[in-house]
Amino acid sequence: MTPPRKLHIKSYGCQMNVYDAQRMADTLAGEGFVETTEADDADLVILNTCHIREKASEKVYSELGRLRATKEEAARQGRQVRIAVAGCVAQAEGAEIMRRAPVVDIVVGPQSYHHLPQLLARSRAGEPAVETEFPVDDKFSFLPLPKAEAIRARGISAFVTVQEGCDKFCTFCVVPYTRGAEVSRPASKIIDEVKRLADNGVREITLIGQNVNAYHGEGCDGRTWSLGALLTRLADIPGVARLRYSTSHPRDVDDSLIAAHRDLRALMPFVHLPVQSGSDRILAAMNRRHTARDYLKVVERFRTACQDIAFSSDFIVGFPGETASDFSDTLALVAQIGYAAAYSFKYSPRPGTPAAEMRETVSAADMDERLARLQDLIDSQQSAFNRAAIGRIVDVLFERAARNPGQIVGRTAYLQPAHVMAPPDIIGQVKPVRIESLERYSLLGELASTNPAAILSPTGA
Ligand code: 5AD
Ligand code: SF4
Repeated sequence: MTPPRKLHIKSYGCQMNVYDAQRMADTLAGEGFVETTEADDADLVILNTCHIREKASEKVYSELGRLRATKEEAARQGRQVRIAVAGCVAQAEGAEIMRRAPVVDIVVGPQSYHHLPQLLARSRAGEPAVETEFPVDDKFSFLPLPKAEAIRARGISAFVTVQEGCDKFCTFCVVPYTRGAEVSRPASKIIDEVKRLADNGVREITLIGQNVNAYHGEGCDGRTWSLGALLTRLADIPGVARLRYSTSHPRDVDDSLIAAHRDLRALMPFVHLPVQSGSDRILAAMNRRHTARDYLKVVERFRTACQDIAFSSDFIVGFPGETASDFSDTLALVAQIGYAAAYSFKYSPRPGTPAAEMRETVSAADMDERLARLQDLIDSQQSAFNRAAIGRIVDVLFERAARNPGQIVGRTAYLQPAHVMAPPDIIGQVKPVRIESLERYSLLGELASTNPAAILSPTGA
């Protein structure tokens, strides 16, 4: 028997890349590949790349430099290693990658990776193996479902792509070009995938899409379903304890999504709702097609339906033409909302996007200063939000053993990590935990159910 071939996938960027990497592994499992955590002993290395900001793209080329040494060393030992570049850099740059980095054997875009086995065969035959078209066939119809062992090995929380691509064309963003037009998967396919995950121990499902709440897939009744309708159906699947979704656009929040937050216990009250800027002038230049006030109104709708809801967001500082006053509007919006967490980035011009042509750039020093101020404000809000959990009893979904012996790590509804002394068989269960302290970003607590006195008397008196 020939030994299995080894596959190493390194993913950069967003949650969809994590999901795509798993589906690539599932596809290549059919070709006899098993995954390895080490690039050095792999026969095939895939870099699943991100093009969202310049730094993310540049990381790929430095990694390819390192892999050239790995490949040469393997060749000296008589072993052939193949290198594939997948993801959004592959889509954006195509065959150019091979000219810049001849170490690369295969280039495959995010809509074509179901063809990896054929591309591998072409590469072995010494033919060019580049595929970055948006194929007419839908990759989901070709991807094999993951094996039960693979699902179990990946843990109790899983991503499921429900929607891909984006038609919004924010002027700074490459996504509409690298991931293509918005496409929603039919509900029945998503339900089958979620059932299979739940049957194999997955307890938390995060529905993902570049613009997930624009979901408009074919429903089981033949009508078009919104994300709210899909979540409502998925909440009925036995074993699904928690549902989440990411990333949403404020303009696509409809009443069915708000109702889902009001009605579904499984739907976690934590929404990632990027706003990018608090200045209406900049929001218009970004082609966001909403104002700061529109965004506040959307947040209010969520809060009215679900009192304990919390938000995270994305921000860009230093978008072309952003003045000190525009930036103050961003700080004011953050102060008004009060986030549980948020990501902020310096604007990075992306080739081919309209904003890359804009002249009024912001100086590097101003960008640095604004980023630091915004991150300080967000950090203080996040710390206050985390501290507010101390002394409370909150539900935690337990995920895995912690580094500290005897401790198990789980997450609260707001994705805060919580460390608790507990037996390992608690993994996969949701249990009430009394939060006692906060260490950096991690909550520490004890199981409330094993100590009923703690529930009755939070002071312990
Ligand atoms: N420069 C900086 N940040 C960007 N993002 C998207 N494009 C750019 C860019 N050109 C950020 C946005 C988006 C997140 C995924 O990445 O905030 O919501
Ligand atoms: Fe990019 Fe999101 Fe805007 Fe779509 S909605 S263009 S993915 S930032």
